Amino acid sequence: MNRFESQLQTIGPAFAGLIENIPLQNRPPLPPDWLQVEMLERYLVIQRADIAPGMTVLEIGSGPHAISTVPLAFAVGKKGRVIAAERSRWGQFREVVRASGLMNSIHPIACDATSLPFRDDSVDVSVCVHGIRSLGEVASLVAILREMLRVSPRVFLAESLPIAKNDAQRAHLAMYDLRQEVFQATSGHRDDLHHLPLDTLSTLIENAGGFLERSATLDIDLPDALAYFPRTLVESIPDTKTRAGLLLRWDEARSNGERYGTDHPPVGIVTAARR
Ligand SMILES: C[S@@+](CC[C@H](N)C(=O)[O-])C[C@H]1O[C@@H](n2cnc3c(N)ncnc32)[C@H](O)[C@@H]1O
Repeated sequence: MNRFESQLQTIGPAFAGLIENIPLQNRPPLPPDWLQVEMLERYLVIQRADIAPGMTVLEIGSGPHAISTVPLAFAVGKKGRVIAAERSRWGQFREVVRASGLMNSIHPIACDATSLPFRDDSVDVSVCVHGIRSLGEVASLVAILREMLRVSPRVFLAESLPIAKNDAQRAHLAMYDLRQEVFQATSGHRDDLHHLPLDTLSTLIENAGGFLERSATLDIDLPDALAYFPRTLVESIPDTKTRAGLLLRWDEARSNGERYGTDHPPVGIVTAARR
């Protein structure tokens, strides 16, 4: 039994059964069950968010696979709801939500979270799980955190930390850390930014008007294949010197990933209330 299968056995049959219904993916070299594995990781992280049945939760940056949306909807139950706010990347969202059987609790909304279309205090808690990395530079990130604290009295953030405790986590971060530079060199946009230290996450939420209630580091003993991106993207970088340097780093990261596997780095979690 691998780590995914054995952790699945510890979480109870209801969510374990739901995960088994999530469609397998065809995106080699990622394993076909990568979405199920990631959803289990989100489920474990969301256990720390103090979400109770019946709550209304606003999720920022739900992304194209509803990876956190589904476990959030499971946590709020039939009488609660999850408002899934996403700027543009809907991909398989509808298909995954349908497979989960939780569509009645999930309300997707396309919007830019720097200006949320909700009244003050209209939701119980706002969350962003593994999405901080995609919310842009500090100014837009703080604007989004302010909005989260305006529409709800509590905020929960979870994001991978830039620390590795073993070779598999190191291999994951080595590939992940290439993304910012490779996307900058190919598209002019940095896209996924380097992970922030836990102290920085805490400071940002305080700068946005939050009172820090809790910050902690969570060890997740699961693989994480999602840092991977194809070598061809690096090969397409126009500048010769930049391309050569990044190709070397990509090859090394890939070979370490094949040797050790790639694991989830420790996850930083932050809970804050409006000041
Ligand atoms: C890393 S992804 C999805 C993370 C997902 N919650 C998970 O558990 O894997 C973050 C998402 O945030 C979205 N996003 C970035 N900036 C945004 C903004 N200003 N407003 C709303 N969504 C945004 C991106 O389009 C992206 O799909």
